[in-house]
Amino acid sequence: MKFMSKKFNRTLVTAALPYANGPVHIGHLAGCYLPADIYVRYLRNTGHDVKFICGSDEHGVPITIKAKNENTSPQLVVDKYHKIMGDAFNDFGISFDVYSRTSSKTHHETASAFFKTLYNKNVFTEQVTEQYFDEAANQFLADRYITGTCPKCNNTNAYGDQCEKCGSTLSPTDLIEPKSALSGNKPVLKQTKNWFLPLDKLQPKIKAYLEQHTDWKSNVYGQCKSWLDSGDGLQPRAMTRDLDWGVPVPVDGADGKVLYVWFDAPIGYISATKELLPNNWEDYWKKEDSRLIHFIGKDNIVFHCIIFPAMLMEHGEYVLADNVPANEFLNLEGNKISTSRNWAVWLHEYLEEFKNQQDVLRYTLCSNAPETKDNDFTWKDFQTKNNSELVAIFGNFINRTLVLTHKFYNGVVPAANTYTKDDLIVLEELGKAPQKISAAIEQFKFREAISEWMNVARIGNKYLADTEPWKLIKTDEERVKTIINVALQISTNLAILCEPFLPFTSKKLFELLNLNHLKWPSAKQTSNIAASHKINKEELLFAKVEDEQIQKQIDKLLASKEKNDSTSTANPIKPETSFDDFTKMDIRTATILEAEAVPKTDKLLKLLLDTGVDKRTVVSGIAGFYKPESIIGQKVCLLANLAPRKIKGIESKGMILMAENNKGELCFVSPTNLEFNNGSEVR
Ligand code: 2FM
Ligand code: ZN
Repeated sequence: MKFMSKKFNRTLVTAALPYANGPVHIGHLAGCYLPADIYVRYLRNTGHDVKFICGSDEHGVPITIKAKNENTSPQLVVDKYHKIMGDAFNDFGISFDVYSRTSSKTHHETASAFFKTLYNKNVFTEQVTEQYFDEAANQFLADRYITGTCPKCNNTNAYGDQCEKCGSTLSPTDLIEPKSALSGNKPVLKQTKNWFLPLDKLQPKIKAYLEQHTDWKSNVYGQCKSWLDSGDGLQPRAMTRDLDWGVPVPVDGADGKVLYVWFDAPIGYISATKELLPNNWEDYWKKEDSRLIHFIGKDNIVFHCIIFPAMLMEHGEYVLADNVPANEFLNLEGNKISTSRNWAVWLHEYLEEFKNQQDVLRYTLCSNAPETKDNDFTWKDFQTKNNSELVAIFGNFINRTLVLTHKFYNGVVPAANTYTKDDLIVLEELGKAPQKISAAIEQFKFREAISEWMNVARIGNKYLADTEPWKLIKTDEERVKTIINVALQISTNLAILCEPFLPFTSKKLFELLNLNHLKWPSAKQTSNIAASHKINKEELLFAKVEDEQIQKQIDKLLASKEKNDSTSTANPIKPETSFDDFTKMDIRTATILEAEAVPKTDKLLKLLLDTGVDKRTVVSGIAGFYKPESIIGQKVCLLANLAPRKIKGIESKGMILMAENNKGELCFVSPTNLEFNNGSEVR
């Protein structure tokens, strides 16, 4: 095992500090927190000294923008989301040793002192630059606070750092007709002094550091190389900003300035370690035999592989990351996950539908992790992974083994007799599994690791199917004892080996086996449960995920999509129509007399309308927005002469007129004057 060379006696694993500006979704989990957790759990299982560090990133423009959008203060935003995020990680078994936050006193002091050290060592260069300033709001504007027209595609809503329409990277001065997001006024350019990390000068040192790590994942190493090799190479980067939210810059003449969020956030790893280990945190950060690993998503690579190491090098007392196993992105049903468009699976919402089924999500996300390229999460795949793998292979094997142990031996582990050749082959495979899984985890190949684990369950399942102890019991009782013993050894190993991936399941399986948690098996060790040991009554480890559950999740996403499609931009006006054509439409006022849900659909209501001329049935797709009982008596406009259509077997005569509000909800276009008679024509 490469990293277990004498060099390292302890490991510090960090997971990117998420911005405290929204709840956690599956993209976060798959990209960074789940692989980090699997890695840490594995190290704990194998007896390593490891600490797992995380916390909320509570500074920077993402926070102030959120506060502005929610019409509240940055402090209230971070307080709210720090709690929500911490709870979500906890619910999914992400086993941080500490989940801190960058608004903490310790962090402010640590980040401040770190800056001061670099400042005193004359590491920074001071530069006066021109930045946009909002005179009405009396403040400099971060790039995200400036909007204007994109010079490349003419999108009038481009940001100072990026145009989301054409994807171009911009700087604020590129924008045509810039506007401040604070006051709406045109900002003016004003000079300001900031402190820069001279990455240009540090490039040779950074290059030498990266060259020691050609073993890093190719997506990570490749991205670093392209930064170094691009055009003019690395450029100085401002480590202070003109903002009022963050860690104040601790030097004279820096009023109204705070540390750049990407300066303070990674120091958050150090502050959190201090909070966890006030007396010996330095062992993990300053001793050569300590190994530092950063788990992150790909958008954070430059900060963890170039800027933070440069800061640490210049400080001089710290170890540098030994590895940065960044993942690519997880997409959802073919589209980029987007918080603002609500195209996401939120962890807390997942648990509402799939109560206590954290491990199913962990299994799916790990099996499909975006380790080497962006990957897609689909609900169908989730269902297949659960039903065809967790239930049909692993769950089935465990259940059969436990049921048979109770049926034949009252739950007492039978002693094995002589092994047959087939038993020995199975035991040999079982003995190889821990080593294979270890090797994959140590190389950050978590997909491979979990698939090796499932292979053990496959071997077990096949073993029972081949040996058929339920039939053999009638003719060869002694042989069945060996088979059940072997099956129980496999089950115990499965419980041990799944702990990093499926910690809830591992715990439950240990309980069923009536065993305390066992450490990772040593090489070739297969026997972990003793003869005569009494196990507990079986319980199912996984339940089938039904089609309806999956459809519900897909519908939820489609509803988000429809809402976004409708709210993003109003559709263009359709081609002109003639007055004659208009008069062909018979639009009437009417009243809803009765309403009921159409069975087996989520969207449709069957309505009985009084049109003043007749009483008729109309089927309308509004069930997602109105409960039937709440719309009895509602006045509506009806296109009364639309050709009748059969919808779900019901003849619908006409269409009630609806329009979307700004939340994407359908509302009645209704005659509000209650004195209208039913049947009055809309002209
Ligand atoms: O991308 C993000 O969500 C950042 N908040 C990650 C920070 S990682 C570290 F530097 F703290
Ligand atoms: Zn553009």
